[in-house]
Amino acid sequence: MPSLNRRSFLRNSSAFAATAASLHITSGVRAQSPNSKFTVGLIGPGGMGTGHLKTLVKNDALDLAYVCDVDQTRLATAVKNAEDAGRKAPKAVTDLRRILEDKSVDAVFIATPDHWHAPATILACDAGKHVYVEKPGSHNIREGRMMIEAARRTKRVVQVGTQTRSSAHMMEGTAKVRSGAIGDVLACRVWNSQRRRNIGKALPSAPPAHLDFDTWIGPAPMVPYKSTLLHAVWRWYYAFGAGDMGNDGVHDIDVGLWGLDVGFRHPNRIAALGGKYFFDDDQQFPDTQTCIFEWELPGGKKKQLIYEQRIWAPYVQEGYENGDAWYGTKGYVIGGKESGWQMFAEKNKPVESGKGSPDLPAHHRNFLDCIKTGARPNADVEIHHYSACLVHLGNIATRLGRTLKFDSAKEQFIGDAEANALVRRAYRKEGHWGVPKGV
Ligand SMILES: NC(=O)c1ccc[n+]([C@@H]2O[C@H](COP(=O)([O-])OP(=O)(O)OC[C@H]3O[C@@H](n4cnc5c(N)ncnc54)[C@H](O)[C@@H]3O)[C@@H](O)[C@H]2O)c1
Repeated sequence: MPSLNRRSFLRNSSAFAATAASLHITSGVRAQSPNSKFTVGLIGPGGMGTGHLKTLVKNDALDLAYVCDVDQTRLATAVKNAEDAGRKAPKAVTDLRRILEDKSVDAVFIATPDHWHAPATILACDAGKHVYVEKPGSHNIREGRMMIEAARRTKRVVQVGTQTRSSAHMMEGTAKVRSGAIGDVLACRVWNSQRRRNIGKALPSAPPAHLDFDTWIGPAPMVPYKSTLLHAVWRWYYAFGAGDMGNDGVHDIDVGLWGLDVGFRHPNRIAALGGKYFFDDDQQFPDTQTCIFEWELPGGKKKQLIYEQRIWAPYVQEGYENGDAWYGTKGYVIGGKESGWQMFAEKNKPVESGKGSPDLPAHHRNFLDCIKTGARPNADVEIHHYSACLVHLGNIATRLGRTLKFDSAKEQFIGDAEANALVRRAYRKEGHWGVPKGV
């Protein structure tokens, strides 16, 4: 842990103050000595959580002190994975509060299903931990706002797991889009074109003995266990995930919004259509979806983002499985986070391109660096909120099947009680320790 003298020196030094101003310092975030190791815990070492674990154990700047999962099988695998990488066995716990009450822990990585993201983030911030939380940051609009409030109230760094934000090729590609090189960028199209699997249909059954299903459900309303609910497939249910728009889609929506550059502002109008045109299974979210978001910016200028999803397509689209295209008045940029971008001028003349792939270690490094410097991370919780809200707004408009008007400042739909009911979610009737206070 850092020495107090070193910390107070950093806070008080004028050199630090100058750097702080240029880095959007989150004032009050503890600056950590460059030489001290971080102590971290990982919550939810499932599919993506295992990806985090394998990246964390390669990072000499930290000690992985805890792993936490409600599934004993996954917990045991996580401990083994850490040991196999030559690390000391992390403490294995099934209740995330055991990590939060340990004062030696600096930060937590949260890779649970979406319905646990905000509850765990808010509890962690209030316990003094910095948070790296998987995307989509929130399960719903209200909890997304509460995550920002928690980060700012507690002066903690909260980075969301949209790792493309720390990936050099798309930093460069989106900077080109914003630079004016393709003129005034008035529209952006985002697509998600890939072949998903049919998850099947299942009847309720007893949960497996190695799973604490009650804690897995957490603050959400209790439903009977069934094999098409977990692991990983929870994302196709309204109570636990955000469909593929919030799963793969949110990465590309986030990149699209980054280039479109509308600021911290939600769209004024949302139109959407979609449904299950292909899969006949237990999924609730659409497999086919088109959402159009329209912003009216100060001065009256309008911009548009179009999201297209066809998750039954056994082919990529325009060279990119998932991609973004920004349309400017002088040219366009097209790209995909997995491979790179290309810029075209008038009459489709190729001008410039960049190559690369998403960089998870860089996103981890950015998070840890921000804990040291107090700067806002590349995928700060507030930046991400506007991307996650496009997912929530698009899903709400698709569910209701009508064009909606949204008040960005109030985060409320205009004149639509049914839509406003979906700005937040229902919680367990009997209450639960994970329900965010004041929600
Ligand atoms: N950044 C990326 O590229 C990327 C890729 C895939 C998934 N993800 C995100 O990662 C998250 C996890 O997705 P997944 O596919 O790995 O799901 P998963 O179901 O495989 O893993 C989730 C794990 O969390 C555990 N868990 C559930 N509730 C818990 C609790 N209260 N405490 C501790 N553990 C708990 C589950 O038992 C499971 O092991 C999602 O938010 C998803 O959107 C991100």
